[in-house]
Amino acid sequence: MADVLLKVTDLSIVFGGLKAVSGFSCELSMGELVGLIGPNGAGKTTVFNMLSGVYTPTSGEIDYWDRKGRVHKVGTKGPASLNQIGIARTFQNIRLFGNMTVEGNARIALHSRRVETPLDVLFRLKRFRIDEERMKLEAEEILSLFKIDNKKYELARNLPYGEQRKLEIARALASNPVLLLLDEPAAGMNGQETEDLMKLIAFIRKEFRLSILLIEHDMRLVMGICERIMVLDYGRIIASGTPEEIQKDPAVIKAYLGEDAV
Ligand SMILES: Nc1ncnc2c1ncn2[C@@H]1O[C@H](COP(=O)(O)OP(=O)(O)OP(=O)(O)O)[C@@H](O)[C@H]1O
Ligand SMILES: [Mg+2]
Repeated sequence: MADVLLKVTDLSIVFGGLKAVSGFSCELSMGELVGLIGPNGAGKTTVFNMLSGVYTPTSGEIDYWDRKGRVHKVGTKGPASLNQIGIARTFQNIRLFGNMTVEGNARIALHSRRVETPLDVLFRLKRFRIDEERMKLEAEEILSLFKIDNKKYELARNLPYGEQRKLEIARALASNPVLLLLDEPAAGMNGQETEDLMKLIAFIRKEFRLSILLIEHDMRLVMGICERIMVLDYGRIIASGTPEEIQKDPAVIKAYLGEDAV
């Protein structure tokens, strides 16, 4: 299983009496871009919350292989330690430090991968200064990739919505992930912005050799860039396959359009 990055087995979570996700299993290989779609309330974000350590699964296993090929049990770790080993995410409801600058937001994420010790920081040793300089350059680079470097001194909350979404992805990327989880990155974007974002996601996947799991309601975006798609409905996977297979799957059409559609 050399190139398997993530193996999820029979994952379930119950809230009160509600089984929000039930028997979810999947495998993700290095470099894959896989879509996770389904109607509102299907359990997509809940899957992400379990993969990123926000929720502890009620049952099931999540195995993740880091850069060095070491296996980790995701279900027992919190978001910060998962971020350290290469799992980063964006949120459906944007979460930025609104009163901080654009650059500040990017630099915070870079902190999770700095090399200096607390003593270096305390005495402002050379290693600290080199690190500060390197982080500044890296933050610039990532922001320019997303074409928001010209806004680096603006407060994050003053950016238009589409750019806030981009900054969120930039920030996730700055933590140097192996697995990137994107929860509706195109939500609230117009057609042109969505188109640009689609190209950008494909580009960063290649450039940063990432594996990406993408939740998205915009079918054009999902069908356009994903190699493989999983469809959730009422917490269960009802279909999984190539975009072509998914588009003509009767169970998928029924889930989206109701009984009358098939
Ligand atoms: N913390 C929670 N407590 C109770 N119920 C929850 C919690 N989180 C999610 N749920 C419920 O779990 C179900 C799945 O929600 P989830 O947010 O995962 O759906 P989704 O597929 O992401 O939907 P959308 O497309 O609207 O974002 C919903 O019925 C939701 O109300
Ligand atoms: Mg959601």
